[in-house]
Amino acid sequence: MPSIHSQLLIPVSGASLGLALLTLAGCDGQQSALAPAGTGAQSIATLFWWMAGGALAIWLVVMGIALYATHAHPEAHSIRGARWLIIGGGVIFPVVMLTGLLIYGLMLMPQLSSSENVALRIDVSGEQWWWRVRYRTATGEAVELANEVRLPVGERVAFSLTSPDVIHSFWIPSLGGKVDMIPGRTNQLVLEPTETGTFRGACAEYCGTSHALMSFAVVVMTREAFDRWLAEQAEPAQRPTDELQQAGQQAFLANGCGACHQVRGTEADGTVGPDLTHVGSRLSLAAGTLPADVDAFERWIGHSSAIKPDVKMPAFGMLPEAQLNAMAHYLSGLQ
Ligand code: CUA
Repeated sequence: MPSIHSQLLIPVSGASLGLALLTLAGCDGQQSALAPAGTGAQSIATLFWWMAGGALAIWLVVMGIALYATHAHPEAHSIRGARWLIIGGGVIFPVVMLTGLLIYGLMLMPQLSSSENVALRIDVSGEQWWWRVRYRTATGEAVELANEVRLPVGERVAFSLTSPDVIHSFWIPSLGGKVDMIPGRTNQLVLEPTETGTFRGACAEYCGTSHALMSFAVVVMTREAFDRWLAEQAEPAQRPTDELQQAGQQAFLANGCGACHQVRGTEADGTVGPDLTHVGSRLSLAAGTLPADVDAFERWIGHSSAIKPDVKMPAFGMLPEAQLNAMAHYLSGLQ
């Protein structure tokens, strides 16, 4: 009669395997280390599949031995044979296997951080809770933006990563590994996207209340499109074109928004919060929390702390609705 163990083992193991497969099936799209669109992510995904395959093989062997053990007669085995099984399977095999994996993993590391042939450098700082992104144009001029990173496809890009206060971790799973942003030091991460498209980056280190509300868009584009985009971002802000936007700009300046935010080409020159010079051109608002449309701008200005707890920007819900609406039109018009 099969023991109670062998009857239990199969359904439990089958269920966990099913669960693992289901979980893996969710790993595609914009933010997945298993759908690589960059050289670093490709190496990491390859390592993952080798390790997953190895784990599956070991699991099958262990299950096989466990099943066999429930049926076998103890007399059929010599002490000597049993000892070799324990030494071989319990000591030699794991040591060889884990050493091999360690060497393979260590060999990947230099390639993930080498700054050879870097075509572009981008400074990114993890803030409470958004990303300050700084590019240098061909003329050496710094262009600051927020919560959006654009990259030319097929070129190596070096990110200089830091933070003014707490530790964050900069991670674009589709393109490569994650690197911590540590106050007082600058870490480097080199990525090389191999496909155009829009991906999602996230903070991978718990950094406070709204840790889950700081993501960013990563757009990989052709070199020409990238150069055009960066030239546009380097331009000062567009002037408001209609009366509603003009009223919005007045309200923006009158309510002191310019003390924290910069809008290049206007008197708003704050540096505490995100640069808003081209905020209307971004793919999302409030670090991936809201879409970048007029309604979202109005909700954000009026209810920032309800949408993103502990955010430094105060909510301006006390302002008249008409002013909030005008400001939303002004900001979303900053293309
Ligand atoms: Cu920033 Cu978690």
